[in-house]
Amino acid sequence: MFDRIKTLRQEAADMKAANAEELEALRIKYLGKKGEIAALMNDFRNVAAEQKREVGQLLNELKDTVQSRINGLRQSLEEGQSSGGDIDLTRTAYPVRLGTRHPISVVRKEICDIFARLGFSIAEGPEIEDDWHVFSSLNFAEDHPARDMQDTFFIQHSPDIVLRTHTSSVQTRVMERQQPPVRIICPGRVYRNEAVSYRAHCFFHQVEALYIDKDVSFADLKQVLLFVAKELFGQETKIRLRPSYFPFTEPSAEMDISCNLCGGKGCPFCKHTGWVEILGCGMVDPNVLENCGIDSKVYSGYALGMGIERITNLKYQVKDLRMFSENDIRFLRQFESI
Ligand code: DAH
Repeated sequence: MFDRIKTLRQEAADMKAANAEELEALRIKYLGKKGEIAALMNDFRNVAAEQKREVGQLLNELKDTVQSRINGLRQSLEEGQSSGGDIDLTRTAYPVRLGTRHPISVVRKEICDIFARLGFSIAEGPEIEDDWHVFSSLNFAEDHPARDMQDTFFIQHSPDIVLRTHTSSVQTRVMERQQPPVRIICPGRVYRNEAVSYRAHCFFHQVEALYIDKDVSFADLKQVLLFVAKELFGQETKIRLRPSYFPFTEPSAEMDISCNLCGGKGCPFCKHTGWVEILGCGMVDPNVLENCGIDSKVYSGYALGMGIERITNLKYQVKDLRMFSENDIRFLRQFESI
């Protein structure tokens, strides 16, 4: 009896019907009045009393299995399929290549995530800006060369409206409406009137960071710089600060990291210096705070700004900046795994 049930169960699993006649034949063979299962039911009375419970259960299960198998076959026949339900409806019809995120977006997110862990939140501002937010509020003198036509795109007929040349403009936007503590990063696109070449473009991307509070010192800035550099380029990364000048910070510095390609030993990439420049930074000039209605005797802070293309180049050695905006799928596919 047990063997018979087992065989029938197997037969049910293997059942195939090419058309309605074959299916009907199967139904009669197994489920008909004189069919296999009816015969087993007949024999049931000969089963020893102590096995009746177990055998009865197996028989019922078998009947259900056969019934649902036949129902399944009927359904696939009705749907015009004759192969008997062996079709994996979840399988992809043909290989679909998924799109990937742009390398600039990947690196922007990475930078934002690192700062988010330090408590910075994201702030955004307009790409079409006025002179005040891009230059004047940030302490640019009236005759500063950065305002020159060489660098800045002006909107026609309106010398006051420009395409922002840096994301530092978002600093002013935030400080004008928010008293300290301010702890923000501002990722975004910026524009400069440069001849397009493999190492310069008329638009690119920056991330600006700003922290204003009581008793913020250069030591705080240095600590954050070291943390960010290590997170971005690996724990063995060293940093070096060189004095520099920006109108909106005093003192100002440019930061180099130990060349991430040669580990600081010197290679063509770092021009054999062992160092590569990655960002500008400094303590926010008191004039900038005052311009935004923040008391510079009570509050101080630091700011830093970096180019996302620059960081992406260092991480992935993209030799030609133009690749980032040409949408050449062969270039973009190289970043599928990041
Ligand atoms: N805005 C500068 C630029 O576009 C970058 C920069 C330098 C931002 C120093 C800063 C900073 O916040 O402190 O080149």
